Amino acid sequence: MSPERRRLFVTTALPYANGPFHIGHIMEYIQADVWVRHQRMQGHEVHFVCADDTHGAPIMLKAEAEGVTPQALVARVAATRPKHLGGFHIGFDHWHSTDSPENVELSQDIYRKLKAAGLVDTRTIEQFFDPVKAMFLPDRYIKGECPKCGAADQYGDACENCSSVYAPTDLRNPYSTLSGAAPVLKASEHYFFRLSDPACVAFLREWALGGRLQPEVANKAREWLDAGGKGLADWDISRDAPYFGIPIPDAPGKYFYVWLDAPIGYLASLKAHLASQGIDFAAFLADPRVEQVHFIGKDIVYFHTLFWPAMLKFAGAPYKVPDAVHVHGFITFSGEKMSKSRGTGISPDVYLDLGLDPEWLRYYLAAKLNGRVEDLDFNPDDFLARVNSDLIGKYVNIASRAAPFLTRHFGGVLATPAETDTERANRLTIAQVEAESARANYEAREYGRVMRDAMRIADRLNEAFDAAQPWLLAKDAGRRDALQTICSQSLQGFQQLTVMLAPVLPKLAARVARELFGLERDFAWDDAYREPGSVRPFRHLMQRIDPRQLDALLEGPKSGAAAEGAAAATTAAATPAGAAGTIGIDEFSRIDLRIARIVGAEHVAGADRLVKLTLDVGEGRHRTVFAGIRAAYRPEDLVGRLTPVVANLAPRRMKFGVSEGMVLAASGDGPGVYLLAPDDGAQPGMRVK
Ligand code: MSP
Ligand code: ZN
Repeated sequence: MSPERRRLFVTTALPYANGPFHIGHIMEYIQADVWVRHQRMQGHEVHFVCADDTHGAPIMLKAEAEGVTPQALVARVAATRPKHLGGFHIGFDHWHSTDSPENVELSQDIYRKLKAAGLVDTRTIEQFFDPVKAMFLPDRYIKGECPKCGAADQYGDACENCSSVYAPTDLRNPYSTLSGAAPVLKASEHYFFRLSDPACVAFLREWALGGRLQPEVANKAREWLDAGGKGLADWDISRDAPYFGIPIPDAPGKYFYVWLDAPIGYLASLKAHLASQGIDFAAFLADPRVEQVHFIGKDIVYFHTLFWPAMLKFAGAPYKVPDAVHVHGFITFSGEKMSKSRGTGISPDVYLDLGLDPEWLRYYLAAKLNGRVEDLDFNPDDFLARVNSDLIGKYVNIASRAAPFLTRHFGGVLATPAETDTERANRLTIAQVEAESARANYEAREYGRVMRDAMRIADRLNEAFDAAQPWLLAKDAGRRDALQTICSQSLQGFQQLTVMLAPVLPKLAARVARELFGLERDFAWDDAYREPGSVRPFRHLMQRIDPRQLDALLEGPKSGAAAEGAAAATTAAATPAGAAGTIGIDEFSRIDLRIARIVGAEHVAGADRLVKLTLDVGEGRHRTVFAGIRAAYRPEDLVGRLTPVVANLAPRRMKFGVSEGMVLAASGDGPGVYLLAPDDGAQPGMRVK
């Protein structure tokens, strides 16, 4: 065991608490979890924590649209976490929330210390204000016409049509996407963290450019620090009520911007975790041995390499600056970005529900991960091939072939009588060198290299096994020593590989240790170059992937069963999950779209998202359709409207009755659901094509 026992505080980015995990989150957690398990196997002390990132306008508005409190929304999402974390063997020591007493205390403490250090000042700025919602509008809720090309409905920061960038105040005919009202400019006092202060800039240059970051990340930081000679801008850390956030001390009606309190959530989670272990938080952070390590994705580097280290540095004791920020790229799907609306990507929920083995995904991701900021592509054929031919065909194969000879002919006892002492010593020395190389690669997050080396070793073991032809040796009573030797060598190799793969395949490794080798503990790293004494009868270790399971995974959830929200259910059939690329006109014309008149609309008792619609689709009878639009429409405003409906959708039995079709509504990432309407002149029953 390493003489200096490291003391590590490790985090992953805090996911927004407005929805369940997507596969990008799971990838990040697996990357960090592998690293943490590897450190633990080296005997180091690790505190691995995360939390829900709960604050900010989007969550507040989403809760409002659903008619629930933000706390209730966050609690509902938090309740989905354990299934996914447990399901993928992600071993956080603690999961917390930024909406917690620890985070309020720490955020206010850090703020007070920054203020005392002279790094906070106030300035009055003018921003767009929604006079109907009576709130300042974050940029993403402002749209208007592009000031350059005049394209309609462009966001407040950039035009999707001509790609020009501008400020929301440059938009022509701006409107609030929350109320539709024209926003007005309104002045308000804001609090700023003085990042431009020379002391701050000097510190950040030293911290970010001093070799602790990945080269490509340091380059980005250098660009930001230089900013074409303009240097860093101060950071606006306050938001006005109404806001779901932490109050700024002595500033009534002002809240911390969510990105101020979010990273402090790392510390809040650590604090809660340490308290449960009886460890003092301040003393822990003061221990010079402690290393603070963050795993994050490439989109949030700015926050973690500028704001966060500066906050910690200038708040002073007991806080310490991060020792490492490890940045990963994004997971893509057959080369495409993951997108819920286009149905690309795979759902962690569906993966688990289908009973797919989580260690397949862990292995596949590990095989493709490295220490650089590179995107990682999930390719279904590649996934199938790597798991079936490498993991099962090469690695598991070793034990399934060698173990039965030992249990059948040698009572399960391992020995290598046909080997000289030197040969044996050399074999174990090589194993030790290979384990050391795997250790260094895990440390550098070069998991792909470890997996490649492991498969190379597996090839070597399989070749040696085949060359020895143990099935022939077994028939020859005079060659027992040779038989026992090759099978024992194979199983020692299998143990070595299992140790090397244990950070990635923790459950499989635990079974191998206990069920195959009869240990009463999990493997330690040194077991990679120790010889097992005996084996027990081989029991099946891992299934191959059945291509049909993979098909089901790629199809995604059945429409209507979408994980989040009835709004998703109203549009799911129009965007079949998993449908990649284009469809033909024939496929489209199978959807019978008709104009319907809403002749009745009422709330549904016990369903806080649904409205029960009675529709006239020109068929001489009325249909009932349940639509997830309650947050957006009052029933009385719907009656009389025309809207398209999917008329040939198979009737679906719901708790409240049978739904005979589906109305179409538009929705995006933000709150808001918008029913479609035909132009004047359309009549109930007309075909939409
Ligand atoms: N709440 C902030 C982080 C606050 S940290 C103090 C946030 N949340 S997030 O839910 O949007 O993203 C959480 C993490 O998931 C980030 O590290 C992000 O980079 C990562 N990913 C989001 N999409 C991803 C992929 N497609 N692939 C891999 N990781 C991705 O940002
Ligand atoms: Zn434009």
